Amino acid sequence: MKPHGIITLSRFMLEERRRVRKDASGAFTELLLEVAFAAKVVAREVNKAGLVEILGLEGGENIHGEDVTKLDVYANNVFYNALDHMGLLCVMASEENDELIEIPDRFPVGDYVLVFDPLDGSSNIDANVSIGTIFAIYRRVTARGKGTVEDLLQPGNRILAAGYVIYGSSTMFVCSTGQGVHGFTLDPGIGEFILSHQDIQVPEKAKVYSVNEVYYDKWDEPVRKFVDHIKSGAADSGPSTARYIGSLVADFHRNLLYGGIFLYPADTKNKNGKLRLLYEANPMAYVIEQAGGYASDGHTRILDKTPTDIHERTPLFIGNRNMVELAEKFIAGEM
Ligand code: AHG
Ligand code: MN
Ligand code: MN
Repeated sequence: MKPHGIITLSRFMLEERRRVRKDASGAFTELLLEVAFAAKVVAREVNKAGLVEILGLEGGENIHGEDVTKLDVYANNVFYNALDHMGLLCVMASEENDELIEIPDRFPVGDYVLVFDPLDGSSNIDANVSIGTIFAIYRRVTARGKGTVEDLLQPGNRILAAGYVIYGSSTMFVCSTGQGVHGFTLDPGIGEFILSHQDIQVPEKAKVYSVNEVYYDKWDEPVRKFVDHIKSGAADSGPSTARYIGSLVADFHRNLLYGGIFLYPADTKNKNGKLRLLYEANPMAYVIEQAGGYASDGHTRILDKTPTDIHERTPLFIGNRNMVELAEKFIAGEM
């Protein structure tokens, strides 16, 4: 009999586990599926975001007298509550928490480490523009007990799985466990993520360049020169159009599908750029490399940077390998 045409995320993970990680306990698969579950809960709330004035103002009370939390705090709680009790993680870190997130005493600890940006692009919510969630999973490096900051400060080249959820015109879960990048679209009718984009590869031509150009005068000269160069059309198979949303997840996702380069360089105000190494740059760098692209801070491969602080920021150049390497050449003074 022909296999059923619909491949759900859980079926895909199960089959991948049988094929690639033959001896795996299933804990890792369970963990990814729980991340996807949390994403569905957040998606439901994101879809109601325009109704806050009817259902209640964020930070205030709704008509039922219930507290209404800000969407990024809400998303943070959803991910935390979905994952704290399962015995899969030893520690978590989120862009929304100053300190690392411990697993409560009453729950068992596991072998994995989760870092996440619960709601990325949250300044876009009021305009109904796409936002997202970004995550990465590592294996712990400490031997036992609750995880520590040591488990969190691992370079991205130790990532086991990473991805993002985009809450857009549809909700998509895009992730990699080191076997290529696959995209799953949420079918709201059945509440399941369905395989819709198998083995995504960044197109050969970098069609788009994405940068917030209001900072142009604040960039270092080599970055200005690089941007001038790609705008002039001089770069071989370089971008032919500019697009910038201001949600990393949405900008990244578009460039992944259409080809392009996204950059958030350092500037005179943000000496290390704006984006966070753990929650934004590393997971996206992992995904882009799995899709045949590359990510750099302008000097160094993002995935080779060893973080020294969980909230460390980094300049980010990410997308088609030839474009990112060209940026590195400008920054090294070779162009
Ligand atoms: P967050 O909403 O998680 O704080 O992240 C916002 C980030 C990122 O999504 C985006 O690429 C960048 O901020 C946009 O910054 P500018 O407004 O400075 O361009
Ligand atoms: Mn973010
Ligand atoms: Mn955020």
